[in-house]
Amino acid sequence: MVLATAETTTSLDFGPAVALSCRECGARYDLGPIFACSDCFGPLEVAYAWTPPGDAGAAKVTREQIESGPANIWRYRALLPVPADVASHRNLAPGWTKLVKAENLGRELGLRSLHIKDDSGNPTHSFKDRVVAIALEAARNFGFHTLSCSSTGNLAGAVTAAAARAGLDACVFIPSDLEEAKIVMASVYGGRLVGIDGTYDDVNRFCSELIGDPLGDKWGFVNVNLRPYYAEGSKTLAFEIVEQLGWRLPDQIVIPVASGSQLTKIDKAFKELIALGLVEERPYKIFAAQALGCSPVSAAFKAGHDFVRPVKPDTIAKSLAIGNPADGPYVLDIARRTGGAVEDVTDAEVVDSIRLLARTEGIFAETAGGVTVGVLRKLVANGVLDPDAETVVLNTGDGLKTLDAVSALARPTAVIRPSLDAFRTAIADHS
Ligand SMILES: Cc1ncc(COP(=O)(O)O)c(C=O)c1O
Ligand SMILES: [Zn+2]
Repeated sequence: MVLATAETTTSLDFGPAVALSCRECGARYDLGPIFACSDCFGPLEVAYAWTPPGDAGAAKVTREQIESGPANIWRYRALLPVPADVASHRNLAPGWTKLVKAENLGRELGLRSLHIKDDSGNPTHSFKDRVVAIALEAARNFGFHTLSCSSTGNLAGAVTAAAARAGLDACVFIPSDLEEAKIVMASVYGGRLVGIDGTYDDVNRFCSELIGDPLGDKWGFVNVNLRPYYAEGSKTLAFEIVEQLGWRLPDQIVIPVASGSQLTKIDKAFKELIALGLVEERPYKIFAAQALGCSPVSAAFKAGHDFVRPVKPDTIAKSLAIGNPADGPYVLDIARRTGGAVEDVTDAEVVDSIRLLARTEGIFAETAGGVTVGVLRKLVANGVLDPDAETVVLNTGDGLKTLDAVSALARPTAVIRPSLDAFRTAIADHS
């Protein structure tokens, strides 16, 4: 086994995780704050005792053990790189969000069985609390005093909030032109929030430089040097969906894509549940959703490429605006291997889909959710999704964070004097 870094100590406690392994060449590394293979530069992933060719019996996790755990992501701690006592650590305990049976939306779209996994219910109102909670444990293990990230908005708020709860410093980096609510949320929890004149891809490049500089010493960048751990947090979305469906894999699932990490790990989680005998194996299809104004993966899928050509983002779905997605090629692999697809929608369709979801299910999604529901609608209309199959669609963030997307269209029906006459006239105008 290659020694990762001098930073590693013998007191690390990553629970069931045993190593990092290269997704490309399989090389193994000690658990450390590293993210790329030194042999082939492939991304590193967390490996467990049961990771093939390991021993599937090594986990010995049962449905009953999981079901008796807390109503948050720590019910899956035996499947994550975290210590057994993680639930007693100071953290935001995200997860166990609602899986909503979306009968109204399903009826409107012509889908027989549709569920929405509504991750806007997390502590900072996006799925990013899941990934940060795992990265936080890694930061503790490695003795980092500052939690950091490059962010398209949601991650910055999740990091500053988690750091506040854990008593760590935070310094997070965002493109300076993000939505007002994302900026406020990322700064209200304290720590330092730095806006950078440039795209997310510029911010990410800057953070990679900072890691190599003494300024960034002892900093845990959740999505850079802690990325293998961070990424494992997305598995909990898949674990919850399967458990909430009654320990069943969905037939088809639609997932938004920025860097592609979330989609890649949802697939990893389904495979782990099968390998561990926690769910019965059956085929599932994974569909990826992008906004047309930042659709490098969808463009590659449609062109039949296995590489992703970077783009300069221009879309209202700023949380998904990553022009050079690190896990893009893996998203292509997974969509093709499972029989899924990658599709995109225009900004107008994003707005329309936010309103459709709100009107039919009482769920107000941020623009990323509008992208996913929009792609769901398009895939059904194009006959790509099976209308009779059990379908899950993710809403990964809260509409209150991207009010501008709909504020011109979602206005009062009328503004009147407080009199019955005025009300009668107003509603007559709108009947
Ligand atoms: C609300 C929301 N959904 C989905 C994503 C996509 O995440 P990933 O980079 O894992 O593809 C992001 C990323 O920032 C996000 O903020
Ligand atoms: Zn490698």
